[in-house]
Amino acid sequence: MDAGAPSRTAEYMALFRALESQRPPGRRLVEDRAAARFLGARLRAVAYAARLPPLRWLIVAYIDRRWPGPRLSGVVRTRVIDDLVRSATGGGCGQLVLLGAGYDTRATRLHEAASTTVFEVDHPATQARKRAALASTPANVRYVPVDFEHDSLTAALADSGFDSRRRTCVVWEGVFSYLTPAAIDLTLSALVELCAPGSLILLTYVDQRALEDPQSQGPAWLAAVRAVGEPFCTGLHPARARAFFAERHLILRHDETTTEAARRLGVAEAATIPRLYRLATLEVENTSARGGARTRLGSASQ
Ligand SMILES: C[S@@+](CC[C@H](N)C(=O)[O-])C[C@H]1O[C@@H](n2cnc3c(N)ncnc32)[C@H](O)[C@@H]1O
Repeated sequence: MDAGAPSRTAEYMALFRALESQRPPGRRLVEDRAAARFLGARLRAVAYAARLPPLRWLIVAYIDRRWPGPRLSGVVRTRVIDDLVRSATGGGCGQLVLLGAGYDTRATRLHEAASTTVFEVDHPATQARKRAALASTPANVRYVPVDFEHDSLTAALADSGFDSRRRTCVVWEGVFSYLTPAAIDLTLSALVELCAPGSLILLTYVDQRALEDPQSQGPAWLAAVRAVGEPFCTGLHPARARAFFAERHLILRHDETTTEAARRLGVAEAATIPRLYRLATLEVENTSARGGARTRLGSASQ
């Protein structure tokens, strides 16, 4: 992303959640009534128009036709992560860390998270824009500005009162693919150092094969993120994911594409989602062992 500017993909994610929230109860995957407040004038007008069901249908059809995949994949991933966060925070994780939080509203939207200390970590430019859009700071939230490429996550979280003795749920949604392999490694090692064993990390990543052969899966999706100045630059081959995370003291508990998750959730259009976007559930190992060989990440240019 442009170093001085807030993330545009984060704003598109807020639009997708705002549009989904306008579907009838029982049919929507996510309800995020606050999402529209983070939209700039143009996207806010789109979300406003979509309050009328025939217009919403047309807007969604236009988005999905022009960029097949990202909207539906985005709301599916948010829904799956919502369910996992509910179960983790309701089941003993006393802290929630949202890495690259963007316009994530889980701190107040999810009933189970409302009594949890939530650390919202994000690039300073995106975080400043989010805070400017909020009337007040939610009581359970601590804002932690961090650039994963340049800053120390360990120091920033420690300075914000992060408690390493408590089991924690970490969400790293829609961020991995925008970072360099070095920043990903630094972030994962900071999490392993900081988080108590048994802590959960919910992470999304892009299948490396889609970056190596951009015509194979979701070419319009890859072109869209490139066009807004936030290209997918780092991927991971799913067959290497278990070893990659194990070398970093993380146990891969579950890994699926958003296409598979959509099918599991009964989404009729699941098959329209290109099979490039993945959701991994990781657990921090219960060991003090460190070191060992490491699998290198692939980048778009390799
Ligand atoms: C696609 S948005 C995802 C936002 C949110 N997690 C969601 O799913 O709606 C990408 C997020 O990654 C953050 N990001 C990208 N590069 C970053 C960096 N170098 N340091 C910190 N955050 C970064 C952006 O600020 C943005 O919030």
